[in-house]
This record gives sequence, C-alpha cells and structure tokens, in this order.
Amino acid sequence: MQLAGRVALVTGAGGGIGRATARLFADRGARVIATDIDEAGLTETADGYGDAMVACPADATSADDAARAVALAGERFGALHLLVNNVGGSRPGKTVTDFALDEWDFWIRLNLTSTFLMCRAAIPAIAAAGGGAIVNVASGAGVTGMGRNPAYVAAKGGVISLTRSLAIDHAAQGIRANAIAPGPILTPLMKRNRSEPEIAFMSKLSLAGRLGKPEEIASTAAFLCSDDGAYVNGELINVGGGRGGPI
Ligand SMILES: NC(=O)c1ccc[n+]([C@@H]2O[C@H](COP(=O)([O-])OP(=O)(O)OC[C@H]3O[C@@H](n4cnc5c(N)ncnc54)[C@H](O)[C@@H]3O)[C@@H](O)[C@H]2O)c1
Repeated sequence: MQLAGRVALVTGAGGGIGRATARLFADRGARVIATDIDEAGLTETADGYGDAMVACPADATSADDAARAVALAGERFGALHLLVNNVGGSRPGKTVTDFALDEWDFWIRLNLTSTFLMCRAAIPAIAAAGGGAIVNVASGAGVTGMGRNPAYVAAKGGVISLTRSLAIDHAAQGIRANAIAPGPILTPLMKRNRSEPEIAFMSKLSLAGRLGKPEEIASTAAFLCSDDGAYVNGELINVGGGRGGPI
C-alpha cells in the first residue's frame, strides 16, 4: 500500500493505460479522481472501487475542466498529491506536408497542451498539500521519432522537455515530475492505429517478444509517485520491453 494516504488525479482513465493506472493507484491505497471524456469507460474503470475512486467526466484539453477536476479532489478527498497526465493519442499516416494547421493544433493540444493545463491547475493544490509528484505519459516516439506521425512525435518530445522544466521549477514546493516513455502497449489506441500483422511485427522486435500491458506502465507510474521514487526527479523512464530493432 505504498500510496496510502495519497490523493491522485489520473487523466484518460476511461480505458487503456489510464484505467490501469487509476485502478493500480487505488489498489495501492490512494484515493483517485479518474477523468476522461468517455463517461461509460470511466464508470467501468471505477466499478468496484466504491468511495476510493471518483469518476469525473472532463476534457483534459479544457482549462475549465482541469480546474473542476482539481477542485473535486479537494471537495471529495480534502487534498491532491499526485497527478498522472496520461491523456494522449495519435493517428499515424501523414507527413508534415500533408498536415492542415487545425489537425496539427488538435494533436499538439491533446498531447502537450493538456499536460500544461492539468499541471497549471494542479500544482497549487499539490503544493498546498505539502508536495507530491507528477508523472507525464510521453512516448518512445518522442525519444526516437516515428514515421508519418510528426505532430505526435513533436508533442511527446515537448512533454519530455516540459517534465524537466516542471521538476526544476517546482522542486522547492516538494513536487517531483517525471516522464514515462512507453513502447508499444496493447491498448484500445494500439488496436485502433495498428493492424494485427503490424502488432505481430512489433512484438517480434521487442526483446520481450510481446507488446506491453497497460499495467506495466501503471506500475512504473506508481513507483514514481511513491516514496520509493523519492530521489527520482526530472527523469524519463523508457518502458518498452527492450527494443530488438527499429520499430
Ligand atoms: N498504447 C501505446 O502503445 C502507447 C505507446 C506510447 C505512448 N502511449 C501514450 O499513453 C497514453 C495512453 O494511451 P493509451 O494507449 O492507453 O490510449 P487509449 O486511446 O487506449 O486511451 C486514452 C484515453 O484517453 C481518453 N481521452 C482522449 N481524449 C481525451 C480528452 N481530450 N480528455 C480526456 N480524456 C481523453 C480516451 O477516451 C481514452 O479513454 C497516451 O498519452 C499515449 O500517447 C501509448
């Protein structure tokens, strides 16, 4: 129960990595505000967790929704200590020369601006609670690049850099900030974006011989948010099963 006594806010908790994170944090003793735009998904995530998890329908790209979700943590649990910025996604297939500006803006807002908005809303509350931790879910794509997905690659690179900035600026308030770069993880996003043959191909390239499970990102986030991770700050942790070659 390494997260007992802590209050966490997890974005994109209606499925995939966010759902696994919200559940694991609650399993480890945290009380959780789970946010998503998918209300049905959120209900499923919170099912069985009783008062330990509150489902909060919210758009992570909205400043008003970010403020509302943070306020809810105070109302329901009296504080906020942990923030996992998990919302993100992409639709590969275009190069920069094919991108319309509004498409570019959409993906940057979903992956990078959402992280800024949630941090801006949550940091004063986390500081008021005496400190805590932020985990930003970036991507291996933000480290190595990825073909035909430039807005996502740029946004995730931005998330990694923003994490370092957060760590420096808010250490004095007792707040640590770290990023995770997942490799290929079997989630609804992966199933939307990649065909079965592509998934089989990626599995072979991983030293693990398989795609990752959402729970394997959640456990890294839990470590970073716990006292076990107390001396880890401003870092990026790659969780990709070990790459056997370029994906
Ligand atoms: N799956 C992978 O292989 C992989 C690899 C690297 C990084 N990631 C990153 O991990 C994170 C989670 O990915 P996933 O695979 O679980 O995705 P997913 O699409 O399976 O789940 C994302 C969740 O976010 C929610 N969401 C989407 N837009 C939202 C918004 N504006 N506000 C609130 N909620 C919103 C969706 O409803 C969904 O429940 C993302 O940031 C993604 O970029 C995933």
